[in-house]
Amino acid sequence: MSLLCCRAGATRAAQVLDGLAARVAPALRDCGIQAVQVKSLNRRGAEYAEKDNGFLCVLCASAVRFFVLHVDTLVKCRDFIFYHPHEVGKNRMNPLDQIVTQAIADFAAAPDAAALENAKALYLGKSGQITEQMKSLGKLAPDERKVQGAVINVAKEKIENALTARREALANAQMEARLNAEAIDVTLPGRGRGMGGIHPVMRTWQRVEEIFRSIGFDVADGPEIENDWTNFTALNSPENHPARSMQDTFYVEGNDTSGKPLLLRTHTSPMQVRYARMNKPPIKVIAPGRTYRVDSDATHSPMFHQVEGLWIAEDISFADLKGVYLNFVKAFFETDDLQVRFRPSYFPFTEPSAEIDIAFGSGPLKGRWLEISGSGQVHPSVIKNMGLDPEQYIGFAFGSGLERLTMLRYGVSDLRLFYEGDLRFLKQFN
Ligand code: DAH
Repeated sequence: MSLLCCRAGATRAAQVLDGLAARVAPALRDCGIQAVQVKSLNRRGAEYAEKDNGFLCVLCASAVRFFVLHVDTLVKCRDFIFYHPHEVGKNRMNPLDQIVTQAIADFAAAPDAAALENAKALYLGKSGQITEQMKSLGKLAPDERKVQGAVINVAKEKIENALTARREALANAQMEARLNAEAIDVTLPGRGRGMGGIHPVMRTWQRVEEIFRSIGFDVADGPEIENDWTNFTALNSPENHPARSMQDTFYVEGNDTSGKPLLLRTHTSPMQVRYARMNKPPIKVIAPGRTYRVDSDATHSPMFHQVEGLWIAEDISFADLKGVYLNFVKAFFETDDLQVRFRPSYFPFTEPSAEIDIAFGSGPLKGRWLEISGSGQVHPSVIKNMGLDPEQYIGFAFGSGLERLTMLRYGVSDLRLFYEGDLRFLKQFN
């Protein structure tokens, strides 16, 4: 019989073993072990030793720790008992306790569930150390088997308990880590709902209403789908006027009572006639609203907004228009430092007609004349279409673009920004 020493790797272990072999040789000889072989083996060293009819006697747990089985025990139970070399002959430890101690250490060293299951396999797996111990029971006499079986079961139970405890500890640690990672700071203020804001063009609409109301103007609302007469004819636009061309106007399926196609109003001016036909003079009204044209570029949108103004009475002159409009732009732009000029122009429904320009006295647009509105003295034919006597009633009208007013007030250079719904743009107005 020879004694087989095994370890997993380094030659240093073999050197130590050579020394040990000399120390334990007499004792080994007493047990009938003649030779001590030093070999490097893998984990299956135990099986190897069995085959060689020798005993696995040395285990290298690390480069500096070596254990050698105690020869007495070796003879008695053919188990593997490992001792520190300096302690050969003393402090004998039950081999099963040894396995239990090692198992507990391995479990404790397992950093996660997968590593723990691997460690478990070394002890409780198919060819784990405890399993092998169980298998070896078959070789014992029935009496011995009973006793040893009970001892092995105790060891197995200890290992299983250690395994369960470690499993729980790892699961708890994992849960703890998860809870920390997913921690909710309940002291943070709630996110709440984003507050919407009023669109810049709508703000202008509201401001315009406020300002004109403050000087006694009524505010009227009218239909966006108009008939041909109110949108064009009543406003003194002859049948062949360019504003009536198909290219300039959106037509709606369906005709009015005179058989003419309905259309999306191209301006708010039809409200002059609508309102005047329903109210007695003096008429003093603004009519803000949506208007439509077949037009789309940096300064034109197919849908845009206008505000119509109308003041009809027996003595309303161009001077009143100048006063009202100057007052309006000063209030709207919140400055007295601006000039207004009336530039002769042409509209079919006013005579005379004028474009209203303004020039700021300061700011980025300082000194530039900027067109802001069409205007004029209401044409006698239009007064007639209002159902009024042009010999008795006279007044002015104007039509201003709400987008244009908004762009000048906030310094916006591209009209399309108003319709893109880009929150980065829109949030700047709240
Ligand atoms: N309706 C005209 C347009 O859309 C603007 C306009 C000009 C309105 C002169 C008026 C006015 O009331 O008097 O271009």
